[in-house]
Amino acid sequence: MVCLGNICRSPLAEGIMRQRAMEAGLNWEIDSAGTAFYHAGEPPHIQSQQVARENGIDISTQRCRQFIAEDMLEFDRIYVMDGDNYLNVKRISGQLWDGSKVKWMLHALYPEQNKPVPDPYFGTQGDFEKVFDLLNNACLRIIDKYVQAGE
Ligand code: 4NP
Repeated sequence: MVCLGNICRSPLAEGIMRQRAMEAGLNWEIDSAGTAFYHAGEPPHIQSQQVARENGIDISTQRCRQFIAEDMLEFDRIYVMDGDNYLNVKRISGQLWDGSKVKWMLHALYPEQNKPVPDPYFGTQGDFEKVFDLLNNACLRIIDKYVQAGE
């Protein structure tokens, strides 16, 4: 799960996907990272922690880190929150770039449309709640498709 700061959106995506995968009985390794370094080492944004907690998910022990090229080898799927994330992952990955692994997070809900998960960094708690709902629905759909496909 990749966003810009690894402080608002992708930590939530990580926590939600880990919880939903566990509930579906899937033994997936989930992680998140940001394409920028600004927040490395910090816990998730307090409002991301809050909206997660309100939905029964504890993301407080997660720590921000920057995406590295080797993540392209380490993970089978890389979900980006928006188009800038996509281009930055491509830039950072360099020769290790494998476009077949990289998906827009909201393609699961809106196929073919490059819809971003809106950045709530300067937003209200309501904006964080909207992001939670989008990410939760996307995670559920991704898991559903995976299970249906019998992969
Ligand atoms: P995120 O949000 O990419 O969802 O973690 C942001 C976090 C930090 C900044 C921008 C967006 N920033 O400019 O520091």
